[in-house]
Amino acid sequence: MDTLPGCVDLWLADDERIVGEPVLDRFRAMLDADEAAKQQRFVQARHRHQYLIAHGMLRTVLAGYLNVDPGTLRFGTNKFGKPSLLDPPRPLAFNLSHTDGLIVLAVAESGRLGVDVEAPARVMDSMDLANAHFSAAEIESLRRVPEAGRTARFIDLWTLKEAYVKGRGEGLSVPLAGFSFAVDGEDIVFQGPADDRRAWRFWRERPATGHTVAIAWLTDASSVAGPRLYDFTTLAASCPPS
Ligand SMILES: CC(C)(COP(=O)(O)OP(=O)(O)OC[C@H]1O[C@@H](n2cnc3c(N)ncnc32)[C@H](O)[C@@H]1OP(=O)(O)O)[C@@H](O)C(=O)NCCC(=O)NCCS
Repeated sequence: MDTLPGCVDLWLADDERIVGEPVLDRFRAMLDADEAAKQQRFVQARHRHQYLIAHGMLRTVLAGYLNVDPGTLRFGTNKFGKPSLLDPPRPLAFNLSHTDGLIVLAVAESGRLGVDVEAPARVMDSMDLANAHFSAAEIESLRRVPEAGRTARFIDLWTLKEAYVKGRGEGLSVPLAGFSFAVDGEDIVFQGPADDRRAWRFWRERPATGHTVAIAWLTDASSVAGPRLYDFTTLAASCPPS
């Protein structure tokens, strides 16, 4: 498996459908001590399960690109907690996100990469949340959306903002109201903060599960294409026991 210049790969997994003991054992054996300890700290079994699948997918997929054993990968984090590979055989940008019913992993050959996934729209007071977290322009544009479509538009903006923050990897030191997205159909317009006027690229995907996924990528590539989507659920189910 190879990354393509100018292209992000997006891997999708439904952890509730990855349940075979052989594959779970394979994933357990890949985790390092920090991952195993973090997994055990989750109180609920479904969260322990999702973490195992997310990190099994992370290691399996990245090792596939790098052609190494998944258990040999080592991860570090920056001071805001963003993970990266330590001493990889070649550079690889990646970011992980999980929510009920879907885990997503974005991978690219280089650059800064962020991804966020949110579950299908629940009933929520999106204007209250927008007032607390969004820019003035985003609040105004959301107010103009008819009520029936407002939650979906809110989730578009939320995932894009989260993906951008995760791409920068500087956590909440990036003020959320200091940058804006405008979404019109498939078009995404970004108004960056003063300290970051570089060429970020953005995509929003709606996989068949009904989730919303946003990707933010800062890349030097002169031309970029939309993400390639891969189904890790089927791949994991077809893994032969080791
Ligand atoms: C830390 C943070 C990135 C996690 O986000 P989240 O929505 O709870 O979780 P996600 O499932 O999207 O992502 C979690 C994964 O991102 C990665 N991650 C952790 N810290 C990260 C950081 N600072 N930057 C980028 N990625 C990070 C990890 O791989 C983590 O998975 P893991 O714990 O299994 O290893 C997030 O709390 C944050 O900084 N958010 C931005 C601020 C915000 O509130 N935005 C609202 C949007 S308007």
